[in-house]
Amino acid sequence: MNRKLLMHVGPTIIDMDVLLAGVRNNTGFASPEFIPAMKNSLDGLKYVMNAKNYQPFILPGSGTLGMESMTSLLKKNDNVLVISSGVFGDRWKAIFNKYEVNCTLLRSEPGKIVSEDRIMEELDKKHYKMVTMTQVETSTGVRFPVKEIAKKIRDKTDLIVVDAVASAGAEELNVHDWDIDVCLTASQKALATPPGASLLVLSENALSYLSDDSLSGFYTDLNQWKNIMNNFESNKSGYYTTLPVHLIFSLEKSFDLIKEETMENRIKRHKIVSGAIRSGLNAMDMDIMAYEKYYSNTVTAMMLNNINMNEFLNYCLNNGIEMATGIIPEYAGKYIRIGHMGWINENDAISTIAVIERALNKFGKKIKYGTGITAAQEYIEDFK
Ligand SMILES: Cc1ncc(COP(=O)(O)O)c(C=O)c1O
Repeated sequence: MNRKLLMHVGPTIIDMDVLLAGVRNNTGFASPEFIPAMKNSLDGLKYVMNAKNYQPFILPGSGTLGMESMTSLLKKNDNVLVISSGVFGDRWKAIFNKYEVNCTLLRSEPGKIVSEDRIMEELDKKHYKMVTMTQVETSTGVRFPVKEIAKKIRDKTDLIVVDAVASAGAEELNVHDWDIDVCLTASQKALATPPGASLLVLSENALSYLSDDSLSGFYTDLNQWKNIMNNFESNKSGYYTTLPVHLIFSLEKSFDLIKEETMENRIKRHKIVSGAIRSGLNAMDMDIMAYEKYYSNTVTAMMLNNINMNEFLNYCLNNGIEMATGIIPEYAGKYIRIGHMGWINENDAISTIAVIERALNKFGKKIKYGTGITAAQEYIEDFK
């Protein structure tokens, strides 16, 4: 099979025009043509996150770099509360354990979220300078109610930080109206560009915590990076470390396409595709890890009920659909993850369900052909 469809949780399918935009020679970080590409990309990031008056950053690195850069807002012995629905929520704790901060982890069972009561109870115990949350937990496909929880905790903490690595560009995200201090993402997920850029926005409040005596290391120091970003926003170049120049031309193109589609339509498209996939799985009696109220637009975790994960994924790959392994320790090897973000469309949902239907039959779960596809088709039809 030489043609396949990437239904992975990132990197995702990349539009050819986006890829080609990055194919350049004779271009460096100080080249005149790079300056507007960077400026437009910073602007595009603000559009996707509804971050009107925020300071945008695009850094060479991945999503984890953006997470670690939060040490730029912290000082020794600060209290940080991490609200986690899975592996990537837990990563915050692993990062902060490397620094001299007091980090408390609240973790849900896979498929659920930490309850509002548990969060409020913890915030009543002591003052937390920073609270982190993950909008879509990629290990479980769970969407956390960022808007609602941010509103509840706003007066109880100084800094609300949202990991939108697996959601920005596909889920409703309005950092300005929701009063979020920091929102971060990465290039390879719903923004659908190659990996290599870490993108984040900081509110005015968050900027006021940047200092030269923060806990951050050299590379992640947003207090330094801020000056470089300001330069590009004022049509000047700048250097702190080398920016991923070619990737930023791709990002600029991707943001152009996103603006053309509009975030409203983009979110709707993701809703239809993810809903069609889940309808197909439900019709085939396959369990989804996330509880229904936490379904996300971008990731679906499907339980395998004793089918071998690697064999299942290999069969699907050999039949043209590449999906991701299940990684949450509690259920490692017992589920797969279907990524549906970026440039996915309705036909991709149908193809994915068709191959899953065949794979389930192959591995002993007898399903009448067409069961999943019919449900997915009907979902798409009903949505419109
Ligand atoms: C929700 C979430 N946060 C953080 C990360 C880490 O991003 P990266 O792998 O780009 O460092 C990921 C990666 O999959 C993620 O899904």
